[in-house]
Amino acid sequence: MEQKMVNLKIDNIPVSVPAGTTVLEAARNAGIKIPSLCFLKDINEIGACRICVVEVKGAKSLVASCVYPVSEGMEVFTNTEKVRHSRQLTLELILSNHRMDCLTCARSGRCELQDLARDLGIDAVRYAADGLVPQIEDSAPHLIRDNSKCVLCRRCTAVCRKTQEVGVIGCNDRGFATHVGCAFDRDLNEVDCVSCGQCIVACPTGALQEKDDTAKVWAALNDPTKHVVVGPAPSIRVT
Ligand code: FES
Repeated sequence: MEQKMVNLKIDNIPVSVPAGTTVLEAARNAGIKIPSLCFLKDINEIGACRICVVEVKGAKSLVASCVYPVSEGMEVFTNTEKVRHSRQLTLELILSNHRMDCLTCARSGRCELQDLARDLGIDAVRYAADGLVPQIEDSAPHLIRDNSKCVLCRRCTAVCRKTQEVGVIGCNDRGFATHVGCAFDRDLNEVDCVSCGQCIVACPTGALQEKDDTAKVWAALNDPTKHVVVGPAPSIRVT
């Protein structure tokens, strides 16, 4: 059956994409860059961070382009002053609760949060919270989690659940207390983590880091009491 195509304009550029495509994907297909943070194609499409907001003509408010489907005749604007201001403010609020030791962070130079701050022109944190301290969980042989650098994008939990079908991490608590961890806040070495490391790949910040403890990782991978990992872990696409 022939695929229904939808015609729209993004930044005044005519674009034609299959029905059901999101504005974010339509823009990227047309070579128009919209920044994103929580979005991982086919894995984490939850519209959580609001970094990808755009203006849609006729819409009452900005929309999250990663979860907003295109429609016939739609007019989208990805780089207006309103859009830029919203993205900057959102990022500033995310940074307000992010412990920044960028100079010594293992992710420095390949951190999506750092890249976003640079791209959005944020060079100071106006709303920095006091007393942010490391929240280290290093019970597993292959990784270290530091929730003081977590942005709650949920990419790690999605890849653990959907790609690896393991699902040992999720979000605990609510509101300001929300944090990623294992159920009942057990340590990672107490649950059926398979040490695949996909959560580290999915993490956009320094919240998850590899631990160089190869012998223990190998032992964990071959532990018959854990879930079995067969063959190489599926790769994920970071877009
Ligand atoms: Fe769209 Fe996070 S990337 S809401």
